[in-house]
Amino acid sequence: MLVVDHITKSSFNDTDSFLFENVSLSVQATEWISIIGPSGTGKTTLLNCIAGINQIDGGTIELDGFPVHNLTESQKSDIRRLQIGFIFQDFKLLPYYSVLENVVLPLSKDKKSDQIRKKAVHLLNQVGINKSYYNRLPSGLSGGEKQRVAIARALINDPKLIICDEPTGNLDNDNKKQVLQILTELKQKGHAIIVVTHDDEVAYEGDRLYELKNNSLSEVVKVL
Ligand SMILES: Nc1ncnc2c1ncn2[C@@H]1O[C@H](COP(=O)(O)OP(=O)(O)OP(=O)(O)O)[C@@H](O)[C@H]1O
Ligand SMILES: [Mg+2]
Repeated sequence: MLVVDHITKSSFNDTDSFLFENVSLSVQATEWISIIGPSGTGKTTLLNCIAGINQIDGGTIELDGFPVHNLTESQKSDIRRLQIGFIFQDFKLLPYYSVLENVVLPLSKDKKSDQIRKKAVHLLNQVGINKSYYNRLPSGLSGGEKQRVAIARALINDPKLIICDEPTGNLDNDNKKQVLQILTELKQKGHAIIVVTHDDEVAYEGDRLYELKNNSLSEVVKVL
């Protein structure tokens, strides 16, 4: 489903050096890939490249045969809206929209509103956000509540590829377990999942484990 082939990304502040080089990765439907690595090595940037948010400086990225790296901005934005669910490290909830509106927004121009609303309510329920939160603005939520709303929003379009950047970073143990359960079920239903995490327990849930370190990505053999 996703094939990342020898991609290279220059450093943001020095185009003569690389943040990462020759990174290759493929993820199939029903697969969960975890990526670990020290802070600042470029994990979030790699995810942004895969989603077409950041440009790459070499190599190719194909999602279901579509060359993400070569698409126009509007094509990339359509792919993100319809095929990718992105759980951002910093949530990126829209501050002037309510919890329910944030979850509904990615699909608001594509489907009937009562249908999406129903789905949004179901997803919010799954991540443990109840009705009394629906009309709140993100500023009135705790970090963990924001993270769970962001997870519900990422799943509203039933994405083929789910990209998670530290999806459990702000959650207590119970909520973390619940999110891991949701991701496992999505994987079993045929979604492809990429998780970046600093949490070993989360990383080990993946079918394959990679580390981004010293400018390159390598597979790590899991020690059980
Ligand atoms: N838009 C940007 N402009 C300038 N520098 C950036 C930008 N985005 C990222 N960087 C820099 O690129 C490097 C990689 O950042 P990135 O966020 O990808 O790291 P990370 O591996 O996700 O780290 P963490 O584990 O802390 O989330 C960092 O040194 C960061 O400061
Ligand atoms: Mg990051």
